[in-house]
Amino acid sequence: MQWNMMKKTVLFLGLLLFLCQTGKSQVKIWDETEEQKQERMAWWTHDRFGMFIHWGLYAMPARHEWVMRYEKIPVEEYHKYFELFEPDLYDPHEWAKMAKAAGMKYAVITTKHHEGFCLFKTDYTDYQALNAPLCRKDLIKEWVDAFRAEGLKVGFYYSLLDWHHPDFEIDRLHPQAPKDKKDYGKLNKDRDMGRYREYVKNQLTELLTQYGKIDLLWLDYSYPGGEHGKGRQDWDSEGLLKLVRKLQPGIIVNDRADLLDVPGGWDFTTPEQYKVSKWPERDGKRIPWETCQTFSGSWGYYRDEANWKSTRQLLVLLIESVAKGGNLLLNVGPTARGTFDARVQDRLEGIGKWMAVNSPSIYGCTEAPEGFKAPENTLLTYNPETKRLYIHLLDYPVERLLLEGYAGKVKYAQFLHDRSELKFGEAPFSITYQEELKEEDLSLELPVIKPDVEIPVIELILDEDAF
Ligand code: GLC
Repeated sequence: MQWNMMKKTVLFLGLLLFLCQTGKSQVKIWDETEEQKQERMAWWTHDRFGMFIHWGLYAMPARHEWVMRYEKIPVEEYHKYFELFEPDLYDPHEWAKMAKAAGMKYAVITTKHHEGFCLFKTDYTDYQALNAPLCRKDLIKEWVDAFRAEGLKVGFYYSLLDWHHPDFEIDRLHPQAPKDKKDYGKLNKDRDMGRYREYVKNQLTELLTQYGKIDLLWLDYSYPGGEHGKGRQDWDSEGLLKLVRKLQPGIIVNDRADLLDVPGGWDFTTPEQYKVSKWPERDGKRIPWETCQTFSGSWGYYRDEANWKSTRQLLVLLIESVAKGGNLLLNVGPTARGTFDARVQDRLEGIGKWMAVNSPSIYGCTEAPEGFKAPENTLLTYNPETKRLYIHLLDYPVERLLLEGYAGKVKYAQFLHDRSELKFGEAPFSITYQEELKEEDLSLELPVIKPDVEIPVIELILDEDAF
């Protein structure tokens, strides 16, 4: 009898646990079918290449956008940057033109980073560009207008962290994080995250109603694990996402609000400064993804940073992202005067030169279909609409490229940059060595001299029945 009771209790508790768990993942931000989601994200999946812009007061110290935290600068001391912020050369039309010339199709700007300074017009703090004595502009309004005018899609980055706001509870990442854990209570006694949550909602409402259609929202970020972190409860992420979706139903949102298990809580994943080894998956399904990358390590303008990636490395990042079904969001940290420095311009121009003739291997492209193996030192991308396959030659081969398993699948081959024909067929003749081509392989003839293109691309027009 007692044994039976015990069994029943255990069963009951088990059921309760099950209900709690399923209950948690049953929360839905909104109803949308997989097809509707794909349609909503179609422009983003097609465009593949965007510009990230990290701009704020941290451009003045010019030694990392986390300088406030790294050097533990108190709010009062950091205020000198607010007083002296003078972006007198700010011309977002120039920025937009440079982004467009580099082949970028969308852009995402920091409307507020962790330092708390707002680049947009807001009724909820004085700590904004319009009030900075030497700025006095809604920098975001001008930015949105300029980027739209160049035909780029516009996105807002908004930091969930705020090291300036008096209600934002001090946590382990905060510039004023205490050495002794016992001190958190004392430090936070007058801080009220409830009020901070309201602040975030109010500001997101402003951002998503003041500037017309916003294509993308980049919320940054959550760190719920461990002690004194923050996550979905701290931000009320579910409430935020519902608000965002209500104000801008077509918007695309990243995955940093700590809602990975909630349907509708995110649209794409964001490997940061990280090269994925394959198309990222969740629950066994491939998911939309975008890697964000810097030129030199930091996101904000860092005058003395030496780690600049070459144009070629940046191109490989772009091509490799598309080759694995993803996007690249490449970051610029403008100077405090509002300009892109010479190193940025040099890289953007280099990328633009390549994109000007090779963008068909990027836009609308994705991972190559199964059955197409990338030859050595190459990256493949594929356009499912036009059924063209692109071979990116990272290391220019001598005279021929072996395409294993491609026989019978290729109708025509050409360089992409000038659409000049490339012959293919049998292995070239050698007096001393005769290699039999395998029936399933193709040999492609290449000119000895590498074309004047950083990474040459071969365009293969596939046979209708190549699959
Ligand atoms: C990080 C950093 C930040 C940067 C961002 C971009 O979370 O805190 O400085 O804005 O990633 O992905």
